[in-house]
Parts: sequence; structure tokens; C-alpha cells
Amino acid sequence: MKVHVANHPLISHKLTVLRDETTDSPTFRRLVEELVTLLAYEATREVRTKTVTIKTPVVVTQGEKMADPRPVVVPILRAGLGMLEGMVRLVPTAEVGFLGMVRDEKTLLASTYANRLPDDLSGRQCFVLDPMLATGGTLVAALNYLIDLGATDIIVICIIAAPEGIAYMEKAFENCLVPITVVTGALDTKLNENGYIVPGLGDAGDRLYGVV
Ligand code: URA
Repeated sequence: MKVHVANHPLISHKLTVLRDETTDSPTFRRLVEELVTLLAYEATREVRTKTVTIKTPVVVTQGEKMADPRPVVVPILRAGLGMLEGMVRLVPTAEVGFLGMVRDEKTLLASTYANRLPDDLSGRQCFVLDPMLATGGTLVAALNYLIDLGATDIIVICIIAAPEGIAYMEKAFENCLVPITVVTGALDTKLNENGYIVPGLGDAGDRLYGVV
């Protein structure tokens, strides 16, 4: 598994405002979208392309266009939904699937409660959106689900990751033949006893959409 921690002053600036507990929901949502667009630029570095011939007003020339089949973007509900707009702004031709994962706050175990995905993901590049890579339990369950459907290349985009979650994913996928990359805006210090990332930003879903 490859891990890429984005290192850019604009990302650091936006993350600092995002983490601040006084940042309100509308600003938080806008910042998440902006951060995802910046992270998506990095995450799509190896998006598949094909060579095409086009005619400019001056000459016939060759260029690169995104190849078929189109990539699939999979936000993990609910907090991943806040990342969708920022991603499809950069990759508007991507197909979008949804995966609902819920984490039991006591056992911290993840399970699927909803899915809307193509039945067959063979040959598809999948971009999974989940803002907080905490224990890694949700992402391991989600990625195994996509691998079972045939996904051949998986790129996870998160805003903040914890070292424990990265280690858990690395162990879970150490013998996995499907290439997996994690692109994150920050690698924080640790998880606390409640499974929250420290320093983190609190509950991403609640900060995006309020406590329901
Ligand atoms: N999920 C969140 O929203 N925040 C954390 O810190 C950990 C998991």
C-alpha cells in the first residue's frame, strides 16, 4: 500500500481553519470541498488515459484523454458525501457509487448498511472518499467490498489520517494484489481512547451536517 501525505501550504492553511472548533458548518463544508479538489489533483496522478488525435485551429495533433471505463468515485456515507462535490468538479466524467458504512462506537467495528455500486468493478479505478482514516476499520471493510466486486485499482482520499489506521490498513492489505494508495491531507499524532483522531477535527459528519 502506498501512502501519500500532501505537503502544500494551501492545504495546511485550509486544514488549520477546518480543525478550529469555531469554524461553522457552511465554512467547514466549503473547505472540505476545496481540500478534496486539491487532494484529488494528487490522487488522480495515475488516472488512466488514452492517446487521441484532435485538430487544433492550427494542426492535427495528439493528446491524452481519460480512458474508458470511467473511474468510479465512492463516497463512504455519511461524511464522505461532503467530499463528493470537490471530487467530481475535478473529474466530472467519473461515475459515482455510494457505500454506507457505520461504525459501532463501542466495538469500533464497521459494517455496510447501504450500497449503490456497479455489480462488476472489473478493470475500474475506484476513488474512495472518507474524510477521517481513524482506526482503519471502515476503510478495510469498504475496500474489501470493492475488491470483491472486482476493483482493480483503489485510491483512497482522506482529509486526516491517524498512524494507527494506516498501520491497520497496511497489515490488512499486505498480501493484496490490488494496488491501493492512500492520499491524505495530514498524518496526525494518534487516536484517543474514544477512537477520535488527535489533534483531528472532531466528528467530521457532525461538523459537516450537524448532530442527528
Ligand atoms: N471519525 C471522525 O469523524 N473523526 C475522528 O476523529 C475519527 C473518526
